[in-house]
Amino acid sequence: MQKEKPKQLNPLLPGYAFDVFLVSGMTPIAQDSTLDFIIDRPRGMKGFIVNLTIKGKGQVFQGDKAFTVEPGDLLLFPPAAVHHYGRAADAPVWFHRWVYFRPRAYWADWLKWPRVVDNVGRLNLADSQLFDEFDGLFRAIEETNQQLRPMSEQLAMNLLERLLIRCYEASSLAEYPTIDHRVLQACQILSESLAAEISVEVLAQQVFLSPSRLAHLFREQVGVGIVRWREDQRIIRAKLLLQTTPMSVAAIGQQVGYDDQLYFSRVFKKRVGVSPSEYRKCATPL
Ligand code: FCB
Repeated sequence: MQKEKPKQLNPLLPGYAFDVFLVSGMTPIAQDSTLDFIIDRPRGMKGFIVNLTIKGKGQVFQGDKAFTVEPGDLLLFPPAAVHHYGRAADAPVWFHRWVYFRPRAYWADWLKWPRVVDNVGRLNLADSQLFDEFDGLFRAIEETNQQLRPMSEQLAMNLLERLLIRCYEASSLAEYPTIDHRVLQACQILSESLAAEISVEVLAQQVFLSPSRLAHLFREQVGVGIVRWREDQRIIRAKLLLQTTPMSVAAIGQQVGYDDQLYFSRVFKKRVGVSPSEYRKCATPL
């Protein structure tokens, strides 16, 4: 029988699955150390990454597209954007903090950064006071997310939301056009009836777009397709209900749109890594 490959548990090393809603860390790359390699994900990731250089110099991309980042530079990699970065050859170190996340729908406006190359967004923190604030926020997200308390992920998401709002505020982003109101309306309709199997056709009719136009706009602006987004929201809601109510797993499944408990458990496990009941067990009250 073939042995299963052991899972990579360290997100700093190749092979980590990133099958979570939020994970963060600091990657301290020093010349010739074990982390001194190019992070190369030609097909990008499912979630977003926000990255802050705190020391040394990094290089993103190669050849004509190459650009470097130094302390105070923030990068945003949207889903599917190519990741190709590492220590700049002329710098002994590149230390950067990062957060990988699956955003909440209403964050979409704050995730439209000015793009430099191939969809990668970039902002610069103008002074050391701002740098300290952002460095502190990244640190707090990591610490909070690692705490073993029932609401640690929610609290970390809350800090991340603050970080993204501050990025928005600290830049001229607020002047950029906001998300299309029909896409927002579609998100709202789906959120209000999470359990309903609303088809793309019906949804499109309600927001006065053709199904293909809505599907295209949605993916472009939210970063994932409609069905995937609804599944994300269902799982987020299910996690909250598991943590904060005594409802049975079957009832929670039903409430978020899965009448078949087995199917619900399978989807949940695929997305969260553990079954709903294991998830509930781990989230013991303080
Ligand atoms: C780590 C990298 C970091 C970021 C996360 C998602 O391995 O060091 O820059 O890409 O993965």
